[in-house]
This record gives sequence, C-alpha cells and structure tokens, in this order.
Amino acid sequence: MADTLTITDNRTGKSYEVAVKEGTIRATDLRQIKANDDDFGLMTYDPAFMNTAACRSSITYIDGDKGILEYRGYPIDQLAEKSTYLETAWLLLHGELPTSSELEEWQHTITYHTFINENLKGVLDSFRYNAHPMGMLIAMISALGTFYPEAKNINDPAVRLKQIERLIAKMITIAAFSYRHMVGQFYAYPDNDLSYPGNFLNMMYRMTELKYQPNPTLERALDVLFILHADHEQNCSTNAMRAVGSSEVDPYSAVAAAAAALYGPLHGGANEQVIRMLTEIGSLSHIPEFIKKVKSGEGVRLMGFGHRVYKNYDPRAKIIKQVAYEVFDVTGKSPLLDIALELERIALEDEYFVKRKLYPNVDFYSGLIYQAMQFPMDMFPVLFAIPRVSGWLSQWQEMIEDPDQKIARPRQIYTGSARRDFVPMEKR
Ligand code: ACO
Repeated sequence: MADTLTITDNRTGKSYEVAVKEGTIRATDLRQIKANDDDFGLMTYDPAFMNTAACRSSITYIDGDKGILEYRGYPIDQLAEKSTYLETAWLLLHGELPTSSELEEWQHTITYHTFINENLKGVLDSFRYNAHPMGMLIAMISALGTFYPEAKNINDPAVRLKQIERLIAKMITIAAFSYRHMVGQFYAYPDNDLSYPGNFLNMMYRMTELKYQPNPTLERALDVLFILHADHEQNCSTNAMRAVGSSEVDPYSAVAAAAAALYGPLHGGANEQVIRMLTEIGSLSHIPEFIKKVKSGEGVRLMGFGHRVYKNYDPRAKIIKQVAYEVFDVTGKSPLLDIALELERIALEDEYFVKRKLYPNVDFYSGLIYQAMQFPMDMFPVLFAIPRVSGWLSQWQEMIEDPDQKIARPRQIYTGSARRDFVPMEKR
C-alpha cells in the first residue's frame, strides 16, 4: 500500500499522485494541478485554518475527542499535581524536565530578572487611571523591547534565551504594575525570596506590611492555573506569535502581538463571560429558564461550555474544579459556585449538550477562582497571558529553528473587480 493520494482532475481528465506524510498532503504539491497552461495551479481554501497544519511541532499534544492534553509528552494532570509553573516553562522551552541544578539556576535567573527599568514606570504613568490592564500590558511588553536592542538578533540562541528569561520574569511585574496603576496604588517591587506566583501576589496586593506572605494554598492554586494555561498548541495567539515572529521581528514585538490576539473575547475573555452569565442567572431557581433559552437557539450560549478542539471534558477543567474547592476553603465559597455546579450537572445530562458534545472548558471554573482571589475581571486575560508567554516563546523558538518555516504569507482568492481605468473626479 503506497502512502500517496491519487487525484483525478475532472476538468482535464489528468491524474496526479501526491505523497501522504504524517497524515497530511503538502499544499504546494497541489500546484502542479492546472486546468490549462495559464492556470496558477490548485490551492486550498481554508479560512480560520480549520483543516490546515501550519507547522510541525513537538511541544504540545491534544486529542480533543479523548480529552487529552500533554506538554512534551507529559500529561497535564501529572504536571498540575507534581510540577511548578517555572519547571513546566523550562520543559516547554527545552523539551525535557530540568535536573535539580538546572531548575535551581532557572528559578534563580527568573527571580533575578523580575525588576524592570524605572523608565518603564513613566510609560505606565502616562496611561489614564481606568485604562484596561490588558491594553497596558500589550504596550508595556512592546516598550520593554526598546530597552534591549540586541533582541533583534534572533538567530543567536544565547541572545534568544536572554530575552526569553527577561520576558517570563518581567511579565508578572508589568502585569502587577498595570493593576496597581489601574487602582491608583504605589508600585510594589519584586521580592526575591518569593516563588514566581508568590512574587506576583506580592506585587499585586502588598500594602504596608514589611514582608508580604502569600497564602500557600492561593500561591499553589495560581501556580497550577499557570501550568494549565502555559501552552495549547496552535491557538489564535500562538498563531499570531508565529506569524508575526516569522518576519524575524524581535520577540517583544511578537509577544505583544500574541497578547493582543489573546485580548479578544473569543480567546482570553470567556471566563469573564462565565462570571457575567452566572451573575445574571442569579439563583438556582432561574437555571431551568436559562437552559431553555440556550436550547431554543436564540443565540444564548452556555459560556464556559464547548470547545473547538475538545469534544470531551476539557482535561484542564477537571483540575481547575478541584483547585476551586481548595481556594474556596481559604477564601470562603463563591455564591456563584452552586449555580455553576447545577448548570454543569444539568448540561452533562441534557440531550442538547450531550448530543453536541458540549462539556465544561477551562474557563468554566477559572473565573470563579480568580474572583475569589480578589482579581478584578479586567485582570482575567492578563492572568492568562502571564503563563502563555512561555508557550508563545517555545513555539517561536521552534519556528526559528525549523528549516521548513519562512515568513508567513497566505494566499487569497481575489474577488474584487477586474482591471479598469482610473475615473477622473468629474466623471464619478
Ligand atoms: N452553549 C450552547 N450551545 C453551544 C455552545 C454553548 N456554549 N457551544 C456550541 N454550541 C452549539 C452550537 O449552537 C451548535 O449547535 P447547532 O449544531 O445546533 O447549530 C453546536 O453546538 C456546535 O457549535 P459551534 O459554534 O459550531 O462550535 P465551535 O467549535 O465553532 O465553537 C466555541 C466552539 C466557540 C468554544 C463554542 O463552544 C462557544 O461559543 N462556547 C462558549 C464560549 C466559551 O466558553 N469559550 C471558551 C473556549 S476555551 C478557550 O478559548 C480558552
């Protein structure tokens, strides 16, 4: 049996044989298929990349039907239980788990790179008091790059690693500073004695105490949420990172672009929508009425349910639900939790949701946790962007080292007018 595909072009009666490799055909192999000598050659039309592999990648594996998510082969539940975000970031970047000395050095490096140039505070200060923290984050990532002109040298692995360290380390600082600007509080500096998530909580919430002591349960919960959000293969923002990075721009500019993609409500904003939905439902007695509306096809969706890739329980949602209980033991239960649990119970039994394979996704419970930890809703996409930086940078690095990759430049089907002569103003 040959690993090829035979295509018969019924326009010409000609047959072509194209190679099938790794479950794909090469789109450029179709170009030989021409209706006549002037024909450009056959292309595929695939808006939103519904069925196009844009790269080969060894970073993250997803099986949406089975509900499997693995980073470098390690199941997400094992990482969530046994690893830390920084160790997971190393794994994503290097492909293997670090040795204890590698991990120690990595943690030390990231901790000692969390300070930002004082001039950047001036950039932040120029934003209006009510600026959205995600808008500030995107601008600050871009501004950060202007301090490191050597970052343009993307083909030097040592220079690349330095920027990766800086970006991962400084994300928590600019994220927390953006929040402090938004609420009109002084900037709380990093504390090198704290863990990565602990340091973030310190910069978010420290007031007059001489030493901020993060609650260990909340610190660990945040770390687990960071692990769960670190990468998710070729999603919208990662695709933006790769596309922008393919122009060989510096990684700060590419990360700013990826963060901009994440800002969109279809990507990083769904957990906010879940909180809004639960608040609007308001009580258990309103649930049947709400479910009826969702099923009536009036365009109301059960937010936090369904996923383009997962047609089973999102493996991250299971872990998050467990984390939610641990957080609520410390913070007190969110009044919205009972509504969420009842919605989930009904949806998992109801034929409408079962038939369409709609299961809770990562966003169904994450917003409740963030809210319990006192993060305002505007910070939710920022909390997603912080760990996703390690995924973006791993994918960026992989792209740069991949000889198959070039500047990203899709084709189009031109649908505009045919050639015509310019019409002078008096004749229009
Ligand atoms: N509630 C009710 N019905 C739904 C939902 C939902 N959340 N999601 C999908 N459906 C229905 C659709 O109406 C459609 O029904 P039909 O076949 O009768 O027309 C069917 O299920 C398939 O839906 P699609 O929109 O084709 O699925 P798609 O893969 O394009 O959408 C998406 C996936 C966008 C995530 C969708 O499920 C959704 O809108 N969910 C709510 C928003 C959300 O939670 N987003 C977060 C995703 S996770 C993340 O990005 C980190």
